[in-house]
Amino acid sequence: MSVVSTYKDGEVLVIVSDNPPVNALGQAVRAGLKAGIEEALSDDSVKAVVIRCEGRTFHAGADITEFGKPPVGPSLPEVIEQIEACSKPVVAAIHGTALGGGLEVALGAHYRVAVPSAKVGLPEVNLGILPGAGGTQRLPRVVGVAEALPMIVTGKPINMKKAESIGLVDKIVDEGSLEAEAIAFAKSVVGTTDLPRSGQRTDKIKDAVADPSVFSNFMEKNGRKMRGYEAPIACVEAVKAAVELPLEEGLKKERELFMKLVSGTQSAALRHAFFAERAAAKVDDIPKDTPLIDIKKVGILGAGTMGGGIAMNFLSAGIPVTILEREEAALERGVGIIRKNYENTAKRGRMTEEQVEKAMSLLTPTLELNDLADCDLVIEAVFELMSIKKDVFGNLDKTVKKGAILASNTSYLNVDEIAACTSRPEDVIGLHFFSPANIMKLLEVVRGEKTSDTVLATSMALAKKIGKVAVVSGVCHGFIGNRILAKRQEQAQQMILEGAKPWDIDRVLTEFGLPMGPFQMADLAGLDIGWDPEKTSSSTVREVLCEMGRRGQKTGKGFYDYDEARRGSPSPETEKVIADFIAKSGKEPRQIDDQEILERCLYPMVNEGAKILEEGMAQRASDVDVVWMNGYGWPPYTGGPMFWADTVGLKEILAGLEKHQDKFGDSVTISPLLREKAEKGETFN
Ligand SMILES: NC(=O)c1ccc[n+]([C@@H]2O[C@H](COP(=O)([O-])OP(=O)(O)OC[C@H]3O[C@@H](n4cnc5c(N)ncnc54)[C@H](O)[C@@H]3O)[C@@H](O)[C@H]2O)c1
Repeated sequence: MSVVSTYKDGEVLVIVSDNPPVNALGQAVRAGLKAGIEEALSDDSVKAVVIRCEGRTFHAGADITEFGKPPVGPSLPEVIEQIEACSKPVVAAIHGTALGGGLEVALGAHYRVAVPSAKVGLPEVNLGILPGAGGTQRLPRVVGVAEALPMIVTGKPINMKKAESIGLVDKIVDEGSLEAEAIAFAKSVVGTTDLPRSGQRTDKIKDAVADPSVFSNFMEKNGRKMRGYEAPIACVEAVKAAVELPLEEGLKKERELFMKLVSGTQSAALRHAFFAERAAAKVDDIPKDTPLIDIKKVGILGAGTMGGGIAMNFLSAGIPVTILEREEAALERGVGIIRKNYENTAKRGRMTEEQVEKAMSLLTPTLELNDLADCDLVIEAVFELMSIKKDVFGNLDKTVKKGAILASNTSYLNVDEIAACTSRPEDVIGLHFFSPANIMKLLEVVRGEKTSDTVLATSMALAKKIGKVAVVSGVCHGFIGNRILAKRQEQAQQMILEGAKPWDIDRVLTEFGLPMGPFQMADLAGLDIGWDPEKTSSSTVREVLCEMGRRGQKTGKGFYDYDEARRGSPSPETEKVIADFIAKSGKEPRQIDDQEILERCLYPMVNEGAKILEEGMAQRASDVDVVWMNGYGWPPYTGGPMFWADTVGLKEILAGLEKHQDKFGDSVTISPLLREKAEKGETFN
């Protein structure tokens, strides 16, 4: 059966798509829409047309499986032009999510009716492209430049209240009666000769034609967020074309920009990021029908930085949490911070007061371990010391009901060793959240040697429920993310002792697209993490800085000097400390150029990623990418370290690693997997 069919309701021809799951605009659907319009034109008894969809949504976008394949006509722009040119009124009936090509089809129609729960948007920018079927030309003509720009440039969908207020939707109708209402609407406009064709409209763009400052204002406000990304800039350029050029030329410009983006590295990287995230959710070697544990109540040990943030994830998802501390004061402090965080969110309008109270009502603070006995999942977030973790897990084993998951939020410690001090290692797993745990998307799910399939599958499902991007890691020091980070940190520390300035290293990495460099990161976290004033021996730059009271942003100085607004500037004092270290070593400082900084920071990371793969610590190269994009701010437009390495070329990476081998010494040994792939001309992804 065809995915598009038609039927008549009086004078109205209804064109219905039924292409589950999301009525994607694949070739068959496009051909069906075209045939439907042709049928309407050739049948004199038809006076108006409705385009609607069966199933859960109106067309939710292009068919991404057609990406990169040779195009088969009719193209979407062609179909939309035909809809718009139709001499009989065309009404789009929208439910679900009319995204991307879906909204472009709706914009091609002369009228749009929708149900209140519908959402519309142009999310193409998230895949590094732009709406390539007239969206950038028609949307501003329908809603004006000021409303169209954020929709196209950020890709965020809008709801129907907004859509109606900006004139994107002509009528909102009852949830249950879209079909009937759309047909009634179509009947009401039968005979209209002066049809509102989006592409021909000028009423909403004439202000921007007269005064293009709307563009510069938008860039001023949003330019920083677009840093490094090509697609948002191209989106703005395309909308400018809508204002400056007639439709046909504007469409040509849109196509040119689209073609350039779609064949570029950034869109390939962003598409990779999209599919990588989906792939990460799959654990290849456990059966699909693995039974899951129903997590009705969560226990958390430690209400410190991590414990509090972790608790918020569950509270926000409506899952009750009991949080345990050693002392009343720490407990009160932790609970107070949770409340404050929620209240701040409410102040920013992202939560209602009722939602804050609802979340807080699900939280039970306690000092009694026994109160965790009936939890289905307990997550430990106490100090990072093996002796303490072992003690905690021993006690949990004795207290918590059988069949519950016992998880550790450890950053580095051996999960198998922790599991071994319980009588049920199969129930033990690592759930490594990132700080701030209520915000950061990444969750490393650390699979111990004995972790059961059920415990792993439940953890993956739960991660999804609380809005995390989960990646499975094997047990190794620092798991996937921190293990790779350590290699970069090592080189950064080493390079400052060879003559590079900390701020130059930070600059090179932020220019690459990372949110901050190693020294900015150290200052933010505090240089005294793990530093013991009793045992300090002035043996590293960091120790000396701590001894001098330069402990990071919180003390107003660390590697950098900070002003009241916490803006850092290079510190002559730090420079002197480093220079003294170099002098003591007897080596001559040398100029290290930006390229060497980049290669020595990033190539060892790729190399470590390859080792993680060859040891089976990550399931796939793209998982390493997901970890770094979601946990450390690696720029998604380069696709993560492994995808980036593919685009640089593994031969080039290998040659770089070999070139710097004398500087790396023992800290970087080349991964056999990387070497093999480079020599064979292969890629990781
Ligand atoms: N801070 C981070 O950025 C980060 C990120 C990921 C993972 N982690 C890991 O999370 C864990 C906790 O780190 P944190 O930064 O939240 O530390 P923190 O010092 O802020 O909090 C630890 C809390 O645990 C409490 N505690 C200690 N022993 C306890 C016990 N036996 N019972 C109940 N409570 C106890 C302490 O009173 C303290 O409030 C560590 O394993 C750490 O490696 C930290």
